[in-house]
Amino acid sequence: MRGTGFQSIVVLTGAGISAESGVPTFRGPDGLWEGHRVEDVATPQAFRRDPALVQAFYDARRAALARVEPNAAHRALARLDAEWPGDLLIVTQNVDDLHERAGAVRMVHMHGELKRAFCLACGERQTAPDTLSDGPACTRCGAHGRLRPDIVWFGEMPYHMDRIEAALAACDLFVSIGTSGAVYPAAGFVQGARHYGAHTLEINLEPSEGTHVFHEARHGRAGDLVPLWVGALLDRDRFRLNQPET
Ligand code: APR
Repeated sequence: MRGTGFQSIVVLTGAGISAESGVPTFRGPDGLWEGHRVEDVATPQAFRRDPALVQAFYDARRAALARVEPNAAHRALARLDAEWPGDLLIVTQNVDDLHERAGAVRMVHMHGELKRAFCLACGERQTAPDTLSDGPACTRCGAHGRLRPDIVWFGEMPYHMDRIEAALAACDLFVSIGTSGAVYPAAGFVQGARHYGAHTLEINLEPSEGTHVFHEARHGRAGDLVPLWVGALLDRDRFRLNQPET
């Protein structure tokens, strides 16, 4: 493609992109996630030990989605999705639904979704009812009390990895937005994309753990920086597309 010189883009997002919508990030200053240690709520062991606590925690987070809205950064990525003529994959680590509520389509949830559940009895994935604490029945096998949040917990395999690896190998621009770079495999995507020759850009409130790996870093609020980046990318592309071939 003429234009920016970029054809294929992968965008990785993390909790920082939803922070301005009022969704708490994971690694707050006190090391707690909404008052819980992460290992008490986000591991299969925690679920086996205290399923009621884990279900209540995720029920509360699912309910909280009704009180938040997509922000300018989600809307900018949805605009990119609608207007970018080349390949695009938005990979989110977030389990909220703010990207899709903003209108993004070319996206995957690598860590699952709050609004999905899966059945431990039959393996069926399904839309989650508002609460899982009260032991609702699976829509497929009818078993009661066997639905768990369809969230990838620590020690579990992230979703869509084949599609993500293929997109990383094919992209020429990789952009990481609002993620601390603390959790693999997502934290390693920048190295993978660079290895295959992509230009790499970090947009984050502060330098992430892997900031030195990126070609370029812009530090500030996603709600300010992402619309600027998307606007410049689309305008530059449109301008260049109007130029005669040289
Ligand atoms: N704009 C941009 N970045 C921001 C903003 C903002 N308004 N607010 C916070 N950030 C940055 C923080 O500085 C931090 O570097 O977003 C990052 C959020 O980091 P984490 O809380 O560690 O979230 P994330 O990287 O998404 O976590 C990865 O860890 O617990 C697991 O599965 C969970 O998907 C999650 C994964």
